[in-house]
Amino acid sequence: MYRTHTCGELRMEQVGQEVTLAGWIQTVRKFGSINFFDLRDRYGITQLLFGENLNPKLDAQPLGREFVVQVTGVVTERSSKNKNIPTGDIEITVTDFKVLNAAKTPPFTIQDDTDGGDELRMKYRFLDLRRNIVRQNLELRYQVGRAARNYLHSAGFIDVETPFLINSTPEGARDFVVPSRMNPNQFYGLPQSPQTFKQLLMVSGYDRYYQIVKCFRDEDLRADRQPEFTQIDCEMSFVEQEDILSTFEHMLKHIFMEIKGIEFTEAFPRMTWAEAMEFYGNDKPDIRFEMKLVNLNDTVKAKGFKVFDDAELVVAVNAKGCSEYTRKQLDELTEWVKRPQIGMSGLVYVKYNTDGSLKSSVDKFFDEEQLKLWAQQCKAEPGDLILVLAGKEERTRKAASELRLEMGERLGLRNKNEFKPLWVVDFPLFEYAEEENRWVARHHPFTSPKPEHISLMDDPSQYGNILANAYDIVLNGTEVGGGSIRIFQRDLQQKMFAALGMSKEEAERKFGFLLGAFEYGAPPHGGIAFGFDRLCSLLGGSESIRDFIAFPKNNSGRDVMLDAPSEIDQAQLNELRISLVKE
Ligand code: AMO
Repeated sequence: MYRTHTCGELRMEQVGQEVTLAGWIQTVRKFGSINFFDLRDRYGITQLLFGENLNPKLDAQPLGREFVVQVTGVVTERSSKNKNIPTGDIEITVTDFKVLNAAKTPPFTIQDDTDGGDELRMKYRFLDLRRNIVRQNLELRYQVGRAARNYLHSAGFIDVETPFLINSTPEGARDFVVPSRMNPNQFYGLPQSPQTFKQLLMVSGYDRYYQIVKCFRDEDLRADRQPEFTQIDCEMSFVEQEDILSTFEHMLKHIFMEIKGIEFTEAFPRMTWAEAMEFYGNDKPDIRFEMKLVNLNDTVKAKGFKVFDDAELVVAVNAKGCSEYTRKQLDELTEWVKRPQIGMSGLVYVKYNTDGSLKSSVDKFFDEEQLKLWAQQCKAEPGDLILVLAGKEERTRKAASELRLEMGERLGLRNKNEFKPLWVVDFPLFEYAEEENRWVARHHPFTSPKPEHISLMDDPSQYGNILANAYDIVLNGTEVGGGSIRIFQRDLQQKMFAALGMSKEEAERKFGFLLGAFEYGAPPHGGIAFGFDRLCSLLGGSESIRDFIAFPKNNSGRDVMLDAPSEIDQAQLNELRISLVKE
């Protein structure tokens, strides 16, 4: 036996016992002729005391940081106790030790507040994973997965695996492709999600399916996006939207209770997509704070201020309690909205001073009476600061949404320990892709129009008005899941493909298997998929999903530890009949 106990286990009750521990040397401290070491494993840290008698052996086999050792000794009460760790009352008076493996000095300290930068820690991810914080994140991930599985199991769902080597899937990103050696010049596509398979499982009668599954999408990466990520993917038959929302609201409530001890007694609020866009400027509102967008078009136009007159949209947010903002702060905020990522040409402000007077950056064009109207519309009170953006509709709405989030952040209204889930419902079925000059599916092409809008599918001029039975679950301003009720009739599915500009032949070639399956008794069905990494990172209070993935990729899609992707041998290329184009 390598060890009798773990490094997190021993307490006062074991004082006097002889024990054997194994682990990594975390710290080394010398006090005269006595040495103290902290020994670490997955379970905790235990202090080791090496008396004078061990010095000859230590001289022969010095112990450095991250050495793997086995020690035997007696549990002893510590004279100076450490209240910060569970084993802090005791230490091991070591009688003998054995070096199981030496270690090079690690390139960064294996501690919570490490001195290692991002890139270095990713290169040595196996060392980074030794750190408490990272380990706790992975443990949380495991627990979230377990809670989800428990809930789904008890609700009668079964876990069915689906293949990775498939064809292109239409989730809207680019596919990763894999060349096939046995089928020269042909490629598999990696699934962007198991969407079509879970629908086929419904046709097969497995009416409650789930899978915690890897998905692959070749898209631009951000803090909440990885090229390979994990979904809790689910599908149900003989259901309507309401059944799905209720089942998965319960699942989330169960996870919150298990992981955070938080009980949601009320139903999650719901908002239509149209409301979300109007009042929050995006389809994933952070409702931890109000500060809704206010459309000022009717109030401010035709008063001779060209910027407003020329704008498609003039929109305001009321930053509560910010009327004391200094000139410098306002200039800085103006620069902030002018950054390319936000892309506005300027920022108009109105200070509603605590004495009731109003002062704006456009006093030349608007008198105090007029500003009062703005204030009324924004429900502003003395002490508030109204920030106004104007320009092209889409960009301005987006910028206002960013400004709202930024002010929420600055005002401390986005507390990561507060959780505000929200269902966004009634998404449009289509969205117009200007670059491609055609309609695309806003969710994916298997999403069903609302029954009352099915007739509009025959009239392309109505495409923009068709609503879908599609929904997203949003948590603190992040989309953590999305799904829809599906089309389950061949005719309607074909109509959908046609609306997306797909010829009959193309639809048949790409999705013939699904259209065919719909002719053999497809039940009404629908589902949802949660971004598992995103859910974990929100529950763990982090912005970045990377912190919750054991071996993540960096923002260029690289695994810096493996140095992947990488070139492959000419022999391998030959076998695959691939020749490379030189850059
Ligand atoms: P969707 O494309 O909305 O739906 O994906 C579901 C959820 O997966 C998460 N997600 C991601 N997480 C990390 N990195 C990414 N690159 C990434 N892309 C998406 C999001 C998102 O809400 N088949 C449908 C689901 C369905 O209709 O049932 C689908 O994949 O949290």
